[in-house]
Amino acid sequence: MNDRTPPRQRILTGDRPTGDLHLGHYVGSLKNRVLLQDEYECFFIIADLHTLTTKPEAEAIRELPSIIRRLVLDYLSVGIDPEKSTIFVQSLVPETYELNLLFEMLVTVPRLQRLPSLKDMARAAHLQAMPLGLLGYPVLQAADILLPRAHLVPVGKDNLGHVEVTREIARRFNQLYRDVFPEPDALMGEIPTLVGIDGKQKMSKSLDNAIFLCDAAETVRAKVMRMYTDPTRIHPTDPGHVEGNPVFDYHFAFNDDRAEVEELAERYRAGRVGDVEVKKRLVAALNRFLDPIRERRASYEATPGLVDQIIVTGTRRARAEAALTMRLVRAAMGMDYGWLKEA
Ligand code: TRP
Repeated sequence: MNDRTPPRQRILTGDRPTGDLHLGHYVGSLKNRVLLQDEYECFFIIADLHTLTTKPEAEAIRELPSIIRRLVLDYLSVGIDPEKSTIFVQSLVPETYELNLLFEMLVTVPRLQRLPSLKDMARAAHLQAMPLGLLGYPVLQAADILLPRAHLVPVGKDNLGHVEVTREIARRFNQLYRDVFPEPDALMGEIPTLVGIDGKQKMSKSLDNAIFLCDAAETVRAKVMRMYTDPTRIHPTDPGHVEGNPVFDYHFAFNDDRAEVEELAERYRAGRVGDVEVKKRLVAALNRFLDPIRERRASYEATPGLVDQIIVTGTRRARAEAALTMRLVRAAMGMDYGWLKEA
């Protein structure tokens, strides 16, 4: 970089390590991450502390190492490049806990209680009452986003409220002390919610209606062949509905052969193609999409220890950036206590 190149803006986003990523994650956020890797300096966080907000049990923590490795493999397999981007584990960046506490002073309890996402998470986890940590979920997320002083946050729809809280915290900090943080923007994918293979609810691991990035070709075929299509259509000669038909939703989202999609849609509307053929073409398209992902995964898996090394390198890098931000934060707040340097 010469002195005329302005520093790139930053992205921070990531996922809780709760399981393998699926096609819904891809269109909702992963695709943007891969596309923006060159334009932005990217930080991808594995938010293991966030999983504790609903699952603090030791048995759940024991599962984390293998879930984290698989999650990082998902990132790498879709084309996140560890040479360009930083992949790191949240709990190994101690500044996260520090900034989280300072941010807790800048947001009110009623503001957080208004977020529907938190109530949904409490309900889904069958919690009788709201744990303090879960109420603070968006504050911790704000610490994640603002530690590398990120400008852009590619996320799914359910996280928009958390980015809004982050903006408010950044604004309040800058107002109370001095300008340290950008007010980050959220960026949603082209398809913010992808329907599951059940055709009813959004694609989700817990609803058992997902096609995973690591599914084998045969698994994808079996899942697609039992998908719901147009319930009003009984014979292949009945005019069919393309809009709201999950099989076509996937064709539009993943089939790179646009001419084939147009042609199938036209024939479907006219009652000139059966569901089985539309599905077979979808299986082929999805496997065309997933094959390079599978190959990249295999190439990373071929070197033992490579994934762990990538996490270690990324975490060091994230920590260095976080330490720098904390120095700015303490200086802005007047809490750097130079007179106590010896302590
Ligand atoms: N809340 C995100 C989720 O739903 C995970 C996450 C934690 C995150 N920290 C973040 C996303 C910072 C974007 C930015 O899984």
